[in-house]
Amino acid sequence: MTPRLILLGAGDFAREVIWLVSEMATTPDWEFGGLLDDDRERAAQILSSNGFGQRVLGTIDNYIPQQDDRFVCTIGNPKAKLAVSERIAARDGKFVNLIHPSAAIGPGCILGSGIIVCRSAVITTNVVIGNHVHINLAATCGHDTVIGDGCTLSAHCDVTGHATLERGVFLGSHASVTPGVRVGEYAVVGAGSVAFRNVGGGQTLLGVPGKSLLS
Ligand SMILES: CC(C)(COP(=O)(O)OP(=O)(O)OC[C@H]1O[C@@H](n2cnc3c(N)ncnc32)[C@H](O)[C@@H]1OP(=O)(O)O)[C@@H](O)C(=O)NCCC(=O)NCCS
Repeated sequence: MTPRLILLGAGDFAREVIWLVSEMATTPDWEFGGLLDDDRERAAQILSSNGFGQRVLGTIDNYIPQQDDRFVCTIGNPKAKLAVSERIAARDGKFVNLIHPSAAIGPGCILGSGIIVCRSAVITTNVVIGNHVHINLAATCGHDTVIGDGCTLSAHCDVTGHATLERGVFLGSHASVTPGVRVGEYAVVGAGSVAFRNVGGGQTLLGVPGKSLLS
């Protein structure tokens, strides 16, 4: 049977991902199956009010992955994204990568699974990307960067050469991480903010140059 793609989460980014899938001109070897969301009614409302007729198949909690199912999680919040993805993986769910045809990925890159790479994103050379990572519109990952599991890079982010994002980092729109900087687990770099120095795990960094919200 043809594998069917199922999106986890039916929020705003899910609608963008449905569009992304429709733009993958040479359809990969699966068909679009529908979405799962724990708030099934809200999800159906979001989709129908925006003219998206896709089916909400059920809740993430209750869904038993079928052999031909392939998943991708569309939840932007890294902690929630990892928790939901790991719940499905624990039930033997298999994940695929969705890469927009306009995205560029250079040589020597290593990609995990459950990754979404949006229109015009650029991943240059020797980049290592973990599982369940989102790289949104026109975001870039420079040479030798390491992007940990569950990271979300919002639109127009710039992660520059040899920088490392540990597990679950969230970068707001237009955030930058300068060369060689390490951003700790579950840290947040706010929209338009620049991390010039290492960021500790769990910290929220804001502004230019970035300062911790807690300090
Ligand atoms: C970092 C962020 C999560 C902080 O959110 P928050 O904890 O709710 O913070 P608040 O909105 O209460 O703001 C706290 C203070 O930080 C400032 N601040 C918030 N975000 C900032 C940013 N990105 N850069 C500079 N200052 C910022 C606020 O002005 C406020 O300052 P004040 O106390 O002097 O008024 C959020 O502001 C952000 O940047 N989110 C990213 C959104 C985004 O890009 N999403 C992707 C597209 S969906």
